[in-house]
Amino acid sequence: MLIIANWKLNLTFDEVKDWVMTYNTFSSTYTFNRVKPVVCPSFIYIPYLKEHLLKTKLGAQNTSHFAKGKYTGEVSAYQLKNFVSFSLIGHSERRENFHETDENIVEKVSLCKNEGIVPIICVNKIEQVSPLKNFDNIFIAYEPLSAIGSKNPDSPSHIEEMTHEILKRAPKAKILYGGSVSEENIKHFSCLKNIQGFLIASESLNPHSFINILKKCDI
Ligand code: PGA
Repeated sequence: MLIIANWKLNLTFDEVKDWVMTYNTFSSTYTFNRVKPVVCPSFIYIPYLKEHLLKTKLGAQNTSHFAKGKYTGEVSAYQLKNFVSFSLIGHSERRENFHETDENIVEKVSLCKNEGIVPIICVNKIEQVSPLKNFDNIFIAYEPLSAIGSKNPDSPSHIEEMTHEILKRAPKAKILYGGSVSEENIKHFSCLKNIQGFLIASESLNPHSFINILKKCDI
């Protein structure tokens, strides 16, 4: 079970250091059983976390759809490959605020795969799945817009329905759910047949909540 913290555009460097201190106190003595934790911070914190975070993989929140060259401000999969194992791609906030298209997303997935980074593609509509149908070894995170940051997660029955539809279109993908997952409600989702992990933003900013989520999924 992949449990991914998506910190979005949050946390100062001092807050990151505090988060790591609290988290490592837990992870240094804990043996993960079925859970694989992943943290996706802002790019600038990745080298610090790579050096200090214990028993936890790193992911990027985004990668460029360009490979390299004259693209000021971009960070590409070929640069990230030495630091991260995963990359989020096409989060709804990127599709909406940065006008990312399905075409951009397919380019990003291909670049990540070429560099050995496992892509986690976020989808909020079923039509966004079909362009991904030919990729293997990818994760698709189903994140309905109404559930993101709203404390109003999707219902388990609708998540099951959606995962079924996603797998019809992308049978080789592994499915995650994201949207208002918390330590209180995760048990309703962790038992769903096709769900292989979670994408957690708001509740991952507090290391204690994130740790509790990890423990609840690890049984
Ligand atoms: P949330 O966000 O956990 O704050 O609902 C999830 C996401 O945007 O990935």
